[in-house]
Amino acid sequence: TLDLGVLISGRGSNLQAILDAIAAGKLDARVRLVISNRPGAPGLRRAEEAGAPTAVISHKDHPDRASFDAALVTALQQAGVTWVVLAGFMRIVTSVLLDAFPGRVINIHPSLLPAFPGVSAQGQALAHGVRITGCTVHLVDAGTDTGPILAQAAVPVLPDDTEERLSARILAREHELLVHVLSAIAAEKFAVRPSATPSGPSRVELVGVP
Ligand code: GAR
Repeated sequence: TLDLGVLISGRGSNLQAILDAIAAGKLDARVRLVISNRPGAPGLRRAEEAGAPTAVISHKDHPDRASFDAALVTALQQAGVTWVVLAGFMRIVTSVLLDAFPGRVINIHPSLLPAFPGVSAQGQALAHGVRITGCTVHLVDAGTDTGPILAQAAVPVLPDDTEERLSARILAREHELLVHVLSAIAAEKFAVRPSATPSGPSRVELVGVP
């Protein structure tokens, strides 16, 4: 059983997908703690309704990223968390968090990385005129959206798409992909392979996840 900590900043629909999968018996995990860096995040209510513990840790109460991350680590460790999920968490994390959970922090991002890292990935995809975009679940490293890729799903960009419609199409796939990856991790169906090139990223292979 995975002991999850889920970090959010807003709506929390990916958190909801995790909570629903657990409730449906499709994911062998417990959400030990949900932390939002924003006090009013709608995702906090979702956690409460599912009976998951919540905390608000505002980055505004900390002088720098390292001390903010140290507060996150303290709360996550006290809650018994072993894997951390960044689910719409709009803060850059530091080595303070990564060193506390080595190789055990994952992120969901709304593009086919390494294309369109950072904010508004869906808007970036529209602006570039790509015909196919999607979503990525990856292990978090010290860069922004750069860590080893765990799984991806492709989503078409349709003629006359708006950012809102494209984002909604991607989001539906995010929910599936995140639960698939967490299921594979819960079943320990993954292996980290060394990098093919000395400077390249290590590769992580999930068994049974495309
Ligand atoms: C999701 O689309 C997620 O991929 C994205 O924010 C949204 C959060 O939605 N994350 C990022 O852009 C991270 N850079 P949610 O709060 O409903 O899960």
